[in-house]
Amino acid sequence: MIILAIETSCDETAVAIVKNGKKILSSIVYSQVQEHEIFGGVVPEIASRKHIESISQLSYEAIKFSAIDIKDIDAIAVTYSPGLVGSLLVGINFAKGLAYSLGKPLIAVNHITSHIAANYIDNESLKPPFICMVVSGGHTQIIEVLDYVKFKVIATTRDDAVGEVFDKVARILGLGYPGGVKIDTVSKLGDPLSYAFPHPKVNGLKNSTVVGESLYDFSFSGLKTTVVNFVNQKRMKNIEIDINNIAASFQKTAVDILCNRLIEVAKNLNYQHLAIAGGVSANSLLRDTLTQMCEKENFNLHIPQLKWCGDNAAMVGIQGYYEYICGNISSLTLNAEAKNFTGNI
Ligand code: KG4
Ligand code: ZN
Repeated sequence: MIILAIETSCDETAVAIVKNGKKILSSIVYSQVQEHEIFGGVVPEIASRKHIESISQLSYEAIKFSAIDIKDIDAIAVTYSPGLVGSLLVGINFAKGLAYSLGKPLIAVNHITSHIAANYIDNESLKPPFICMVVSGGHTQIIEVLDYVKFKVIATTRDDAVGEVFDKVARILGLGYPGGVKIDTVSKLGDPLSYAFPHPKVNGLKNSTVVGESLYDFSFSGLKTTVVNFVNQKRMKNIEIDINNIAASFQKTAVDILCNRLIEVAKNLNYQHLAIAGGVSANSLLRDTLTQMCEKENFNLHIPQLKWCGDNAAMVGIQGYYEYICGNISSLTLNAEAKNFTGNI
């Protein structure tokens, strides 16, 4: 079964051709970073316009590179939520037009579950149930993957997503946009123990199934404010700051918070297989720290290849395949949804 998959939830326009939920025949990602860089972040209006300009050409190229004929496509999968509504709508409408004109089914895919599905690429050993921490620019969640299309959110952030905080700290340090990868790079030149930034304390219920009430929830706004205030105060007093040391200390704090929580949840819920996903899962310290912790604790850790951590359409094609075989076909009235993922059981 061949799926043409589309992803336009934020500032990457991506199209992929995926065979049988396993083989990536082609995957093209057009990043709009250059368009948004001068504004220091994603400008939604510009993002939508750039998606419109590139989506037809990218689809044409994805089909060409995969060496299939357009008639070989069996279904169209598209990200419908969460994300920037104007951006999502470009992908959704293009997907609808293609599905209608080819007479093929349309499959709606959630962005968070597609990030999780990036772990299935090149990894035959991973099958649900397992636990996955999704860390991106908009989400920080620990999710029970009960089967390929059933998800229970165990923990979520009460305020900022961790990727958002990486971007904000990078901006205050003058590292520019996108910030996560820049923090990752300069941290290698700094001492992660030079500053002690705070770990959050979150009140909640251990067994709560209500999103936002879990004892396992994250909170990153305190860490963000501490780093921002620290930098601003030094600057006001004309005290020189060491950007590399601040970046490294911040990164270590954020990574420790994430890793400790994932291991705690895995132990308490008795999961053996752990995974991470989303843009921040590209972070080198997160990957290394979690690898070491999982080795020590005897957990099986699954991490997507770097190219599948950020937004791409291959992961949409993989998750789309599982949605399709579970009968989750969408109608042509499909609309975009901005709301955060809350699971589906
Ligand atoms: O999944 P993603 O590409 O888009 C969303 O769904 O949000 O994640 C983007 C986020 C951004 O906040 C970006 O700064 C962060 O992932 N990111 C990183 C790294 N690479 C990307 N954060 C930390 N370290 C990295 N190497
Ligand atoms: Zn994403």
